Amino acid sequence: MNNANKRKVFDFTVWSMSLLFAFGLLTDSALADSKVPAATNKTYQAECGSCHIAYSPALFAAPAWRRVMAGLTKHFGTDAGVDARAAAEIGAFLESNAAEGRKRGSDSGVLRITETPWFTRKHREVPAPAWKNPKVLSPANCTACHAGAERGDFDEHAVRIPR
Ligand code: HEC
Ligand code: HEC
Repeated sequence: MNNANKRKVFDFTVWSMSLLFAFGLLTDSALADSKVPAATNKTYQAECGSCHIAYSPALFAAPAWRRVMAGLTKHFGTDAGVDARAAAEIGAFLESNAAEGRKRGSDSGVLRITETPWFTRKHREVPAPAWKNPKVLSPANCTACHAGAERGDFDEHAVRIPR
């Protein structure tokens, strides 16, 4: 290969690597959270999907799920206790499908998905009164604004804040 061709190969390599890098940044910041895997475990859906949606395990870090599971008999003012077998199955399901990585996956020590720095950052453009709307009542009520929440669909273009 002559020098001019080497130069072309080099330029092309640098160019495509920059493109891949830029695309990586883009998907990381903008697309990564619009869709998370839905909860698929039947025991989890039955035991944890009656009072609120069966939150996708990918919304919370493994240590956070462990804390939730350890305190079920005193669960946000209610008793959500399950038998030992169900607890073991649900715990294993949640932990093996828990959030990973430095954003959603980093544990901030809280007991609520809605109190994580990740959740706050994703919702900083939501006007404060929206959370108090009687059709919302709690940030934990994802489906009030994200109709597809149970399927793990949080696409920004499908968000509807109730009026
Ligand atoms: C008897 C009703 C009930 C059952 C059953 C129940 N929960 Fe809850 N859960 C609640 C209530 C009430 C809240 C607080 C909701 C709010 O603040 O709007 C809550 C909140 C949560 C939150 C925090 C939501 C947030 O704000 O980010 C998580 C996580 C959670 N539950 C997980 C579970 C898991 C896991 C199970 C099954 C083992 C379960 N829940 C079963 C009633 C229940
Ligand atoms: C009051 C309405 C409201 C509620 C309730 C709500 N959200 Fe959102 N959410 C929004 C809005 C609006 C956005 C888009 C924010 C923006 O881009 O300005 C958003 C964005 C998101 C995103 C980011 C999507 C992306 O493409 O990066 C995720 C993930 C998300 N919400 C998850 C949740 C979860 C999980 C819950 C329940 C625990 C929840 N939200 C509850 C209104 C809400």
